[in-house]
Amino acid sequence: MEFKKTIELRHSVRHFLKQPIKNEKINSILDVVNNCPSAGNLQSYKIYLIKKQDVKKELAAAALDQEFIAQAPIVMVFCAKQEECAAKYGARGKNLYSLQDATIAASYAQLAAADLNIGTVWVGAFDSEKVKSVLRTSYLPVAIIPMGYYSEKSFLRERKQKSQIVEEI
Ligand SMILES: Cc1cc2nc3c(=O)[nH]c(=O)nc-3n(C[C@H](O)[C@H](O)[C@H](O)COP(=O)(O)O)c2cc1C
Repeated sequence: MEFKKTIELRHSVRHFLKQPIKNEKINSILDVVNNCPSAGNLQSYKIYLIKKQDVKKELAAAALDQEFIAQAPIVMVFCAKQEECAAKYGARGKNLYSLQDATIAASYAQLAAADLNIGTVWVGAFDSEKVKSVLRTSYLPVAIIPMGYYSEKSFLRERKQKSQIVEEI
């Protein structure tokens, strides 16, 4: 798909069809993610790929009962490996770079999915400790990204004027 078209197509999807996502599509999304920039090329993030229904339900519960998480055939949780990044970059690596690495990775995943007509939504409202416990990880969860096919045809997208988000100095 043309780049601009992919960007326009990406929007938050919160109703997913039951249709499964083939492994080759998941791999293609992960290939894109694996090409994204990261501080010092450390890739200080970990992606948990969840297909099991009971785990998806636990994640939904840990995310303020956002039930659509459990309806998505695939959920990816992007976590920051803070200590790994801190080993090279100290506090800045721990508190900024590793979170940015995970954020960029999640963002690329959303675009790669959109390019395959797979819908996603960024879920940031969750209890970090509960998500860590569901995943049995010590890494910091940054974003939960449910993924799936969708049937909606149109969506509203209001944005600020560019002059409100940009200042030339
Ligand atoms: C950091 C962040 C946190 C978000 N958290 C949630 C969330 O917990 N639940 C949800 O339904 N959408 C969440 N969203 C999605 C936004 O609501 C959505 O991106 C925004 O309304 C713009 O719509 P669009 O994605 O269709 O362009 C989040 C988005 C971001 C970037």
